[in-house]
Amino acid sequence: MLVAPSILSADFGHLARDVEGICEGGCDLVHVDVMDGHFVPNLTIGPVVVEAVAKAATKPLDIHLMVENNSFFVDLFAPLKPEFISFHIEEEKHPHRLIQKIRSLGIRPAIVLNPQTLPEMLEFLLEDLDMVLLMSVNPGFGGQKFIPSVVEKAKRLKALIEKRNPACLIEVDGGVNDENVKLLGEAGVDVVVAGSFVYKHPKGVKEAIASLK
Ligand code: DX5
Ligand code: ZN
Repeated sequence: MLVAPSILSADFGHLARDVEGICEGGCDLVHVDVMDGHFVPNLTIGPVVVEAVAKAATKPLDIHLMVENNSFFVDLFAPLKPEFISFHIEEEKHPHRLIQKIRSLGIRPAIVLNPQTLPEMLEFLLEDLDMVLLMSVNPGFGGQKFIPSVVEKAKRLKALIEKRNPACLIEVDGGVNDENVKLLGEAGVDVVVAGSFVYKHPKGVKEAIASLK
């Protein structure tokens, strides 16, 4: 299992230290939650702060956009050379076009599905995607409770991926811990995002990442 800790649960007064901590602690990706106060009722960070994150990180960035104007934000973050940029299909009229744009910028494209969105919506996009991110909470905040139906959804998505593009990864985000991660692994999930579990773990981030793996 690849682990992408969400820096939303880091101490923003010591952000560089907390980014270095997860990278030294064995994470695979650094998950960055970008919220605009419109698509979700929360506002987080923009390119100025993410540039500082990119400088501190020794692992690739996984940027999760929760915004209304996806294309505008792709342009803002592209110069930071993240590994992935993911955008919500619920907020994009032309997902196929945006996937091509992200790839043309040298970034791996990913689509995010909210808890209610059917995986079958992606059937004819999968061959152009490098990853699908399934939300296991409603987007907007860290520290929420895991929605268990995502396990069944991951299995359905896995079947579609096998048919259309076996190289496409499945990532799950929200309320992930060392118990539900097992069910996710069995369902075919490749990457888990974990914020509060990693940063609030009593034994520290390294131990938290190891327990998810
Ligand atoms: C929620 C974010 C998540 C969140 C995860 O909108 O996309 O990445 O920070 O935090 P936890 O693991 O605490 O649910
Ligand atoms: Zn996220």
